[in-house]
Amino acid sequence: MARIALTLFVGLIAGVGVAGAEPAPAANATAAAAAGWWKPSINQNLTFQYQLITKLDPARHFIPGVQVYFVDGFDSTPEAVAALKAKGNATHPVYPVCYISAGTHEDWRPDAATFPPATLGTALPDWPGERWLNVSDPAVRTAISKRIAMCADKGFVGVDPDNVDGNLNANGLGLTGGDVLSFVDWLAREAHKAGLAVGLKNNLPMVPALLPNVEFFVNEQCHAYNECKTYDLAVAAGKPVFNIEYDPSAFKAACANGTASGIDTIFKKANLDDCRQACGEAGLTCPSGASPSAAGGAAGGGGGSAGGAGAARASGAAAVAAALVAAAAMAAW
Ligand SMILES: *[C@@H]1O[C@H](CO)[C@@H](O)[C@H](O)[C@H]1NC(C)=O
Ligand SMILES: *[C@@H]1O[C@H](CO)[C@@H](O)[C@H](O)[C@H]1NC(C)=O
Ligand SMILES: *[C@@H]1O[C@H](CO)[C@@H](O)[C@H](O)[C@H]1NC(C)=O
Ligand SMILES: *[C@@H]1O[C@H](CO)[C@@H](O)[C@H](O)[C@H]1NC(C)=O
Ligand SMILES: *[C@@H]1O[C@H](CO)[C@@H](O)[C@H](O)[C@H]1NC(C)=O
Repeated sequence: MARIALTLFVGLIAGVGVAGAEPAPAANATAAAAAGWWKPSINQNLTFQYQLITKLDPARHFIPGVQVYFVDGFDSTPEAVAALKAKGNATHPVYPVCYISAGTHEDWRPDAATFPPATLGTALPDWPGERWLNVSDPAVRTAISKRIAMCADKGFVGVDPDNVDGNLNANGLGLTGGDVLSFVDWLAREAHKAGLAVGLKNNLPMVPALLPNVEFFVNEQCHAYNECKTYDLAVAAGKPVFNIEYDPSAFKAACANGTASGIDTIFKKANLDDCRQACGEAGLTCPSGASPSAAGGAAGGGGGSAGGAGAARASGAAAVAAALVAAAAMAAW
């Protein structure tokens, strides 16, 4: 879910109830956790790509020097994840991160029927087929746990659980900050048990409470919304912050500020296809959709049903409108 509208932050969050009695993890999970998980450091100067709609094809989508790739967990094959990792080398390892929606139901996913209807809340206005989930429900957690296992099985090194900000949106389920906070706390422990790093996406009021639980942060539009300072404590703790801007002027300001904030910013179209613009790159081809990789991705993307559903999702009016606004503004730049 690309963040486009301004979100109201509702209150601050109380402390999270950590630990408690848990079922013993499976032997495999124990082994995975014992082996540890990816712990990226801000000192590695990691650059990233955030590509959800265009199905991963490492032969086309690997970008020399870019080390962290956020791609769709369901749509990416284990072979593609392995091939992407193989593009890394000793000085520039490649880290594939598994995007899943953790806090919303997406009606086109293969496991969509495993979420009981009673756990579905309000529809997301900008994203057809997507509804908030009751993240406190055990059946929801079981389904999300399976998604995390899928990410591990496919060879990802981290998981990027999206939509963990139901408490900041009209969710129809009465989700509170405390509900979401305990959900992310649970998510982080599940990811670690599976041997995966985990990030917190958006939900800025929870950054302080969840700083110890996650290895990295993903943000949309912290420059556009003047919220990057929220991540100062993450930067101070050495944890990378991967920020995406959709508005060209915000992106330009972020680049002008250099690396002072410690936040890694790229420009993306709102549909999060394979087009990527980094600071300092010549040729602002991204918003026009004219980059060679974007054209290739579109041509190659007609195959699976997941790709089709993704395309339908990307054609949400808000996403298209935002992309057009971005294109116009970038052309002016
Ligand atoms: C990261 O960037 C800083 C500042 O430019 C530099 O001093 C450091 O050597 C870089 N680290 C790596 C691993 O590239
Ligand atoms: C490792 O890969 C990077 C691109 O990601 C490249 O710039 C660098 O030259 C490679 N190093 C070696 C030793 O091949
Ligand atoms: C959400 O799930 C929890 C835990 O099962 C339950 O107590 C709560 O009533 C549910 N909320 C709604 C709105 O169904
Ligand atoms: C551990 O997980 C791997 C990958 O999911 C699987 O292939 C293997 O069978 C599992 N081993 C055990 C003992 O469950
Ligand atoms: C630029 O970075 C500094 C250092 O983190 C920060 O204080 C300032 O607010 C940033 N300015 C903008 C426009 O992002």
